[in-house]
Amino acid sequence: MTKVAIIGAGPCGLSALRSFEQAEKKGDKIPEIVCFDKQEDWGGLWNYSWRTGSDQYGDPVPNSMYRYLWSNGPKECLEFADYSFDEHFSKPIPSFPPREVLYDYILGRVKKGNLKDKVKFSTTVTNVVYNGSNFEVTYRDKKNATSSTDIFDYVVVANGHFSVPFIPEYPGMKAFPGRIMHSHDFRDAEEFRDKNVVVLGSSYSAEDVALQCHKYGAKSVTIAYRHNPMGFKWPKGMKEVFHLDRLEGNKAIFKDGHVQEADAVILCTGYLHHFPFLSEDLKLKTGNRLYPPKLYKGVVWQNNHKLMYLGMQDQFHTFNMFDCQAWFARDVIMGKIKVPDNSKVEKDINKWVSTEEKLENADQMIDFQTEYTKELHTLSNYPKIDFELIRKTFKEWEHHKVENIMTYRNKSFASPVTGSVGPKHHTDWEIAMDDSLKTFLDQPKK
Ligand SMILES: Cc1cc2nc3c(=O)[nH]c(=O)nc-3n(C[C@H](O)[C@H](O)[C@H](O)COP(=O)(O)OP(=O)(O)OC[C@H]3O[C@@H](n4cnc5c(N)ncnc54)[C@H](O)[C@@H]3O)c2cc1C
Ligand SMILES: NC(=O)c1ccc[n+]([C@@H]2O[C@H](COP(=O)([O-])OP(=O)(O)OC[C@H]3O[C@@H](n4cnc5c(N)ncnc54)[C@H](OP(=O)(O)O)[C@@H]3O)[C@@H](O)[C@H]2O)c1
Repeated sequence: MTKVAIIGAGPCGLSALRSFEQAEKKGDKIPEIVCFDKQEDWGGLWNYSWRTGSDQYGDPVPNSMYRYLWSNGPKECLEFADYSFDEHFSKPIPSFPPREVLYDYILGRVKKGNLKDKVKFSTTVTNVVYNGSNFEVTYRDKKNATSSTDIFDYVVVANGHFSVPFIPEYPGMKAFPGRIMHSHDFRDAEEFRDKNVVVLGSSYSAEDVALQCHKYGAKSVTIAYRHNPMGFKWPKGMKEVFHLDRLEGNKAIFKDGHVQEADAVILCTGYLHHFPFLSEDLKLKTGNRLYPPKLYKGVVWQNNHKLMYLGMQDQFHTFNMFDCQAWFARDVIMGKIKVPDNSKVEKDINKWVSTEEKLENADQMIDFQTEYTKELHTLSNYPKIDFELIRKTFKEWEHHKVENIMTYRNKSFASPVTGSVGPKHHTDWEIAMDDSLKTFLDQPKK
């Protein structure tokens, strides 16, 4: 029997498990599947952990999410085609849920069957080599401190790429008297109440960590961009300046001459694609981009079609794109989709990569990833979902952010699966301090 290893039980690994379950339900004979996750439970980044640094076994903690994290995109854009929000919560819910609510949703469809039996938890994959006909996968059972090696015909890499921080150094850091940390280790904005916070970066973490610090009472928040400012209309107490030059004592000195006293510097400087367990010939080498190289249809490793990567793209689209990728990977593994010859694979990859390199703004990037996801969708039997509505929603969301970065999370959108429109949340995001599932779902009776 064909054997498939799935590395990671985050949203991508769960999409892979779900895709095989759905094929089996339709009467297909599916391969034997073993999914590995180094955490004690599934859900990937959405499985919040207070830990930073190492876990109790000395393994690096993969979690990068923090308390009070709310979805930064409309939930309608990431909805599963085969399991709507309405189905999970038995009623329409607002468009920007906090982490715990999305975590509950992600797990809802996989909890229904016996997929958990296929996951080896607290088990880290430490080595994967291709021996010419199949893969030798070595994994470490962390609880029992034992290592084993099994043979697999296919490997699906779904270990995420927002777990290993990229940490630059600036002059003066060694002597800085305050706290310097990466957003990977940021857990609770309360820590920065009444503090002067400097945030480096100009992407989603910089935006959201800065907003969190402001929302939970930081004295001042100064965001330093390196190339392009985010340019939002920041509320009083927040500002955006050009690139950190150096720290001198507790002063941050920026390249535009601006000087700011700082109690903490938070590096929102992104993450590394990191695959220490893969042999060099199997290893994807890429930055955080919309079409990483050497992946046919963004999934199949160009040099070895038995190796699949899920979710390695920079992400506008998330859960339903992961599903489209997983359904595609499943059908390649089950022989329903034939990967074409090398020249066609190369041509297809080059087409996407060269188009991506010409993208200039957020709307074009949204179009690019929507086209990519739509194409994948046509290649498998992943259920119907309205990607044109998702495209439109993403663009409206971008414009709402430009209009007012403090209020974009109060907007509502229509579901691309059921058509129902999310109700307005009972509390505006700016003053909603409690991010629990219970408080979020308890809409006061009218
Ligand atoms: C701070 C932050 C906020 C985000 N917020 C949003 C949001 O609001 N909306 C949204 O759609 N997306 C958001 N994302 C994007 C996020 O990447 C995806 O939602 C999603 O978690 C990606 O799923 P994944 O399965 O690829 O990776 P992950 O969620 O990272 O899961 C990977 C899993 O692989 C396991 N693993 C790693 N290495 C090994 C190994 N060697 N052996 C065994 N197991 C291993 C890990 O333990 C983990 O469980 C956010 C990301 C970050 C960092
Ligand atoms: N739900 C939420 O609210 C939420 C919150 C946080 C993050 N996220 C998600 O997390 C994921 C990762 O986002 P991310 O922002 O961490 O990573 P990212 O999108 O890869 O951005 C990395 C940022 O680091 C900057 N940078 C890199 N090196 C630098 C240096 N030496 N000095 C200064 N700046 C430097 C980059 O600036 P340049 O452009 O100048 O290179 C870029 O702005 C995204 O998918 C995002 O959606 C979601």
